[in-house]
Amino acid sequence: MKRGILAAVLAACAAAGTIHPAAQAGFLALMPGFPLWAYGYKTPPAAPEDWSGRCPGETPRDCDRPGGMPADTTGTKLSLAGSDRTFTVAEITSPYNPADWFPGDHPPMPDIVGRGKAATRFRACAICHYPTGSGLMQNAPVAGLPVDYFLRQLAEFANGKRKSADINKANAWEMAAMARNLTPDEARQAAAYYSSIPFRQWNRVVESETVPAFTATINNLFLKAEGDETEPLGRRLVEMPEDTYQSNMLRNPRSGMVVYAPVGSLKAGEALVKTGAGKTQACGVCHGPDLRGTALAPPIAGRQPGYLARQMYDFQTGSRGGDMASLMKPAAEKLTGDDLIAIAAYVASLQP
Ligand code: HEC
Ligand code: HEC
Repeated sequence: MKRGILAAVLAACAAAGTIHPAAQAGFLALMPGFPLWAYGYKTPPAAPEDWSGRCPGETPRDCDRPGGMPADTTGTKLSLAGSDRTFTVAEITSPYNPADWFPGDHPPMPDIVGRGKAATRFRACAICHYPTGSGLMQNAPVAGLPVDYFLRQLAEFANGKRKSADINKANAWEMAAMARNLTPDEARQAAAYYSSIPFRQWNRVVESETVPAFTATINNLFLKAEGDETEPLGRRLVEMPEDTYQSNMLRNPRSGMVVYAPVGSLKAGEALVKTGAGKTQACGVCHGPDLRGTALAPPIAGRQPGYLARQMYDFQTGSRGGDMASLMKPAAEKLTGDDLIAIAAYVASLQP
């Protein structure tokens, strides 16, 4: 498949730290079928960025404050309804000890999850995946994943079989660098920890013709703009915080997301998921009747639609390979952009 080869060329160039001009042209050619929304873009990136300057996590770089997070201007202690703790913005976004507002919501975090490895500048898993493993659409929901699936993903990030189709995706490069630098014990502790926490849905899927006007941060997060303007939704899913301040400033793990989906998505998605509709396979055969996971395939019900669609596209292009990825390939292969929207909206609306 042409796209697959392109993705492989791009990935190889990026891994070598150089972008070949032909790959750059290829990257732009890739854009038409690329589900921009699932990768956190509102408009296509002009060209591959030089990600090597951005935070691969293996050499000390200025990556301590995740891009797009608010800067600390006041040093004021902030509080959050229902929590007896207070944190400054710098503490909330601390790379090696990010705020944990509700320690009662999860078991005690192993050091690798709550603190990372400051000595080698590896950020805590919790800065991206949150202490509860809910994750954001631009990283991944890791709560409630089976331990062996979790460990296989870490191994495949580490050995390069699992990559993002988007070579600009700095956090995916950082994820891979982290996976390469975990000890087997750290990997097992993180897997056991996140696996023990049930995934709690924090999406609400709404079908709509329009969406509140929004911006895309450099952190690939969609945030509602000031005011009450709306814009046409078009053919995409847009997931944004119910409350920008709670989610983006406080990182409140209990404040959820609204997912705007084109009208008709849920019904179309249900047909594809339940029957395959001649284009894919019924997902329940492997992921279980309620898509809550089986010994073969991970749980997907209720998880962030941007993450789900991105993975399906990554399977389709082959950038997400790996030992079990071939099982997903036939299900993902023929899906169009509209199919991805419909499937992701429907799966995200299910109870986990
Ligand atoms: C810089 C942010 C960041 C940090 C820190 C981080 N991850 Fe990730 N992680 C990601 C991203 C991004 C993805 C999804 C990549 C994609 O979509 O291509 C991911 C995916 C995963 C997955 C795959 C989930 C699935 O459903 O297949 C696992 C498992 C995981 N991370 C575990 C960890 C662990 C354990 C740590 C700490 C040792 C960690 N991550 C630290 C960003 C991060
Ligand atoms: C033949 C079995 C099979 C079928 C049918 C199947 N899947 Fe999968 N799926 C898998 C396996 C196995 C994995 C894990 C692959 C890996 O380990 O890399 C997976 C992974 C996934 C993932 C990534 C999950 C994560 O946490 O990263 C998504 C999303 C997904 N499948 C969606 C679907 C959807 C939607 C359908 C139906 C349209 C479907 N799958 C049909 C076997 C299947």
